[in-house]
Amino acid sequence: MIESAYVQDLRTALTRADFTVDAVFGLLGEEAHRALGRNQTIPARRATSGGGALATLVRLFALQVPVDRDRADAALPGLVEPLVAAGMLDASGGEVRALVDVRPYGDEDHDWWIVCDPTPGLDVRQSPMNAEYVLGISEASSSLAQLTIREPVGRALDLGTGCGVQALHLAQHSREVVATDVNPRALAMARLTAELNGVDFDVRDGSLFGPVAGETFDLIATNPPFVISPPGSEVLVYRDSGMPGDSVVRHLVENAAAHLNDGGWCQILANWAHRAGTPWQEGLEEWFAGQPLDAWVVQRELVDPAEYVEMWLADAGLAGSADYVQRYDGWLDWFAEVGIEAVGFGWLSMRKTSAAPAHRFEEWAGEVAPPVGPAVAAWGRRTDLLRGLDDEALLGHAFRQAPDLVEETRGPVGAEHPEAIVLRLQQGVRRARQVDTIEAGLVSASEGDLTAGQILDALASLLHRDAADLRRTYASSVRELAADGFLT
Ligand SMILES: C[S@@+](CC[C@H](N)C(=O)[O-])C[C@H]1O[C@@H](n2cnc3c(N)ncnc32)[C@H](O)[C@@H]1O
Repeated sequence: MIESAYVQDLRTALTRADFTVDAVFGLLGEEAHRALGRNQTIPARRATSGGGALATLVRLFALQVPVDRDRADAALPGLVEPLVAAGMLDASGGEVRALVDVRPYGDEDHDWWIVCDPTPGLDVRQSPMNAEYVLGISEASSSLAQLTIREPVGRALDLGTGCGVQALHLAQHSREVVATDVNPRALAMARLTAELNGVDFDVRDGSLFGPVAGETFDLIATNPPFVISPPGSEVLVYRDSGMPGDSVVRHLVENAAAHLNDGGWCQILANWAHRAGTPWQEGLEEWFAGQPLDAWVVQRELVDPAEYVEMWLADAGLAGSADYVQRYDGWLDWFAEVGIEAVGFGWLSMRKTSAAPAHRFEEWAGEVAPPVGPAVAAWGRRTDLLRGLDDEALLGHAFRQAPDLVEETRGPVGAEHPEAIVLRLQQGVRRARQVDTIEAGLVSASEGDLTAGQILDALASLLHRDAADLRRTYASSVRELAADGFLT
């Protein structure tokens, strides 16, 4: 990567060109931007044919189009030679092309750049992925970034940092960030991402928790190489750990507590195997056995073996390759042999606790309203509240309905009473629950002043029901409504 002496000049050139997410969107327009999201560059090529430094940088990096040397010199003054020397650009025949990607990225408050490998498969080109490929911002990266709890912490760890995207986010709310990887190209790119953005992370070489042996953190965020590949297949380091099945995720779960401070969180984006005859929750529960960890596991998607194999063969650039059929068949054979009948994709959020651990396994393929991080932190607070609370204490608690809750009713138009009442959260995991009249009344009257028990007593008197009976019957509803975040 480019020498430190030139990083400030590169930053200046990118800033001067206004090489930001918003400016690139403004230059390309919606249609070309959407097409680029589908890996199609032609509309964006048409939108950037006019010249200017921003158009040059977009063509060079995002579209992977060679640009004239004088256009490259104008956009990156004094930098083309150093970037060529660093292996980031190639210059020949009066043209310059990019060998790595420098990509605008940001959140609500920041404009950043990410250094990574060029996006593969533009304009339906297919070629096998390089084993040392360094991923840019993938769907998985964004999913983890919005899942991560963004509260101020002391020490944070990004395990398997790649281009450094998670570390960049972590650095905004952590006093110290350690970022690890086994791929030397990733380590170099993460370092440059940090330098280019004027952010400090401690980038370390080594596998899994190896580089942080004996150290603890307040927050670990990891998007590990979780793909469940057959043994003997080539290891693509950005997605394969080389460990069998889903054991890389199991290893992270089983070793998280040793690297967390009390109350610290470890959040993992993962795949897990569904094995014939074992409910997936039971399989994962084994990983947590004996660990001092509260855990909320959300399965976002379930894919069958064929879909899984197609997805990852295409990701490896092997769709249409000469041995596609053989690889597809072999992967399915291996799944059948080891009893993997589906693969779950989702989120693991774990918190180190000294209390009796609480585990929640949930399937939620429905809508989420990002960011989900605040919902994870709120789940932690609810878990603390509900842990060890018997029914009497629970009903003695004054809850509030979640501020983002809406009620939907269904039934014939004009009917006096609805056939069904559904409560739906609007933020984070947008859970919905069908409730009866008592539960609906309980939630609507929960404003933080009356206890759940007092509200149930009032409902009993209003509906001519026995108050003790209602308390007994609805204590479990109160517990579920609180556990699910409808009551806070
Ligand atoms: C799916 S990528 C995630 C990259 C980035 N953190 C993100 O969120 O987009 C997985 C990363 O883990 C790294 N990796 C692979 N095997 C590893 C291992 N044994 N220990 C640590 N990192 C590893 C890969 O090089 C790659 O950068």
